[in-house]
Amino acid sequence: MARTIRVGALISGGGTNLQAILDAAAAGKIDAEVVFTGSDNPWAKGLVRAEKAGVPVFVADYAETVRQEKARPGGPRLPEGLDLGSLLARQGVMDAAVDPDRAQRFFALRAAWEARLLEEMNRFDWDLLVLAGFMRLLTPYFLDRASPDPEQPRIMNIHPALLPAFPGGDGYGDTFRHGCKVGGCTVHFVDCGEDSGPIIGQKAYAVDPGDDLAAIRKKGLALEWQLFPECIQLFAENRLKITRRPCPAPGEPDRMRKVVEVLEKPMGG
Ligand code: GRF
Repeated sequence: MARTIRVGALISGGGTNLQAILDAAAAGKIDAEVVFTGSDNPWAKGLVRAEKAGVPVFVADYAETVRQEKARPGGPRLPEGLDLGSLLARQGVMDAAVDPDRAQRFFALRAAWEARLLEEMNRFDWDLLVLAGFMRLLTPYFLDRASPDPEQPRIMNIHPALLPAFPGGDGYGDTFRHGCKVGGCTVHFVDCGEDSGPIIGQKAYAVDPGDDLAAIRKKGLALEWQLFPECIQLFAENRLKITRRPCPAPGEPDRMRKVVEVLEKPMGG
């Protein structure tokens, strides 16, 4: 019997994945309870879904925070404890070719907003954070604080493609535009890169001749709604173990990659 885990959710939009998680929890299909839902976007329809399910909600408004911080004399207020240099060195989402001043400004603003997000989240006790259609990349500042143990990550994201193909904001569009014959979705732990963290689970569908983007999205979303609760349940059952595999790259013969091993039985059980 798995423990009942406390799940926090972050969303940006419609929240159909959140709904799938809420439904699975209400039906007793997963040993999880959603304890908060937060959004970067005050208009996210998913907030209404959470409220209907009796889940506390909050908004850490990204656009508003950026507006306020940009207007602040002397520039954005950096959160306490933030080392912007080390954040820039560790982030994996912005190309090194980007003008360093621009990168600094971007990450200072992002971290200022993340500090507000953490403040909201810290009002709750939670075991797992799920990014359920949450459209902001998170920086090492946030990740270090929300998921401090690299061997026991606790932030999951759902992505609308079979990673490592098609990271980024338009997985179904990319699947369609490339004429893929198979598409899918992925749940992974979040790391400092863009959709690059260790893969927990995947589901695939066939792209049939004549499928347009809408058909692809429909097939993919239906699988997302199954996959996310399944991965949450694996976490609740303590069956996700981080291991490492050699993954040599040009100039980095000893490089290792973190992967998730899905155990038959709970760790330590
Ligand atoms: C999903 O396709 C998810 O994979 C992606 O954004 C979409 C969000 O859908 N990250 P919803 O808000 O859960 O309905």
